[in-house]
Amino acid sequence: MTDWQTRQTAHRAGTALGDEHLYFDTAAAAPPSAAAVEAAVEYLGQTSRTGPYLPSLRSAVYTRVEKIRAEVAAFVQAAPEELAFTRNGTESICLVARGLRWRAGDEIVVPDTEMLSNIAIWRLLEQEVGVRVVTVEGGHTGVLDPARVRDAITDRTRLVTFAALSNVTGAVQPVREICEVAAQHGVLSHVNAAQALGMMPVGFEEWRCDFISACSRKGLRGIEGSGILAVREHLLESLTPTLVGWWNASVDESSGEIRFPHSARRFEAGSPNVPAILALGAAVETAAGLGIEAIHDRVRELTRHAANRLRSIPGAQLYGPDDDSNRLGILPSTSTGSTRANSPSRSSAAASSSRPATSWPRRSSPPTASSAWPGPRCTISTPPTRSTAWFWRSTQREEPANDPRTPNEQLQEGRPRLSRARVRPAAHRARRHQPPSALHPLRGRLLLV
Ligand SMILES: Cc1ncc(COP(=O)(O)O)c(C=O)c1O
Repeated sequence: MTDWQTRQTAHRAGTALGDEHLYFDTAAAAPPSAAAVEAAVEYLGQTSRTGPYLPSLRSAVYTRVEKIRAEVAAFVQAAPEELAFTRNGTESICLVARGLRWRAGDEIVVPDTEMLSNIAIWRLLEQEVGVRVVTVEGGHTGVLDPARVRDAITDRTRLVTFAALSNVTGAVQPVREICEVAAQHGVLSHVNAAQALGMMPVGFEEWRCDFISACSRKGLRGIEGSGILAVREHLLESLTPTLVGWWNASVDESSGEIRFPHSARRFEAGSPNVPAILALGAAVETAAGLGIEAIHDRVRELTRHAANRLRSIPGAQLYGPDDDSNRLGILPSTSTGSTRANSPSRSSAAASSSRPATSWPRRSSPPTASSAWPGPRCTISTPPTRSTAWFWRSTQREEPANDPRTPNEQLQEGRPRLSRARVRPAAHRARRHQPPSALHPLRGRLLLV
């Protein structure tokens, strides 16, 4: 076994999904690694025994928080002073949006495949201050053409904002080229790395952008409630802190002026989310230990494999980039036909049908054991026109068999039983209580790798 394989096996052992659950990382969130969970739990245990403000504990914790800041900053090719801890990717985006000083008529370039968190705040600014959101089309592949971005830039453009890896299309954008186009025109660039962090190299050197937002609960496998914002040192003062209070602000006694540190800590206010930061530190340590290039290579390999397997399913259709090298981990797809349609004749009939996709074809053999990759999961997301995430629980523990409602219906009625369960074709419903071995092998493969 190579050194890398040994580390990945150890990391795999820290993935506690167990045999009862299959997990679709449907571009929403990944199971946190054991190391991340332990870091948070250990700290919380300590606070329950001593209280969080035992001076020696507090001092050790703050020292640790700053060490993690340096490690996370290095992971995104930033200086520690350029990195702020946030609650999530959305908050990071909003800190940029709310922090920049806008004038009516300023333009913001946004692709048409962005997730709501990189749309809503810009639309709100349209209403509030009269900025203009200019949409760039990703086309049928979802891969942005830097030339189109250039064409969208005018002398009113202040910012280009886009996701490096789209949760909708699975497209990896030509991030550096787009940021260079922006820089050539004196326009700021904000890269939303929510899906990219922990899956591929992310950073200021890599991308030459001005701001990076991300969360840690996806590819990085941190816990919920933790995100980051990286701001170039020379732009720190150009963002007004949105959140203000103890931790980031002080009042000048003579002038009464509110002061902030000249570091990204100016964007953090109030008590830091220590458990989430400690978990983030552990997640980054794991990813850096495995090597982000190695993780990236492995996810690319899995993506190619999954894409090929999906294409081999009669009636399945893959969306997003034409070239699999422009995909990473997220495979939007639909299929036609019925789960009971096992015979080739029915499958091919389904494939040629123009009916909307409702189910996956079923294979008679059970899922095969997959390789031992412990890291970020390949993701199957639902097609661009649908919402993205559902968590498949294969036991009946949380979904009594006598509840006939779909997760969508449960959500609408305010009692979701599946986390973010929104899309579930009828056939999924019919099969939800079957043991994992009865599910389509691709599911098992993607979940277990
Ligand atoms: C592309 C993209 N951007 C932003 C976000 C928002 O991140 P968060 O949920 O941490 O606020 C998500 C995920 O939910 C995402 O997929």
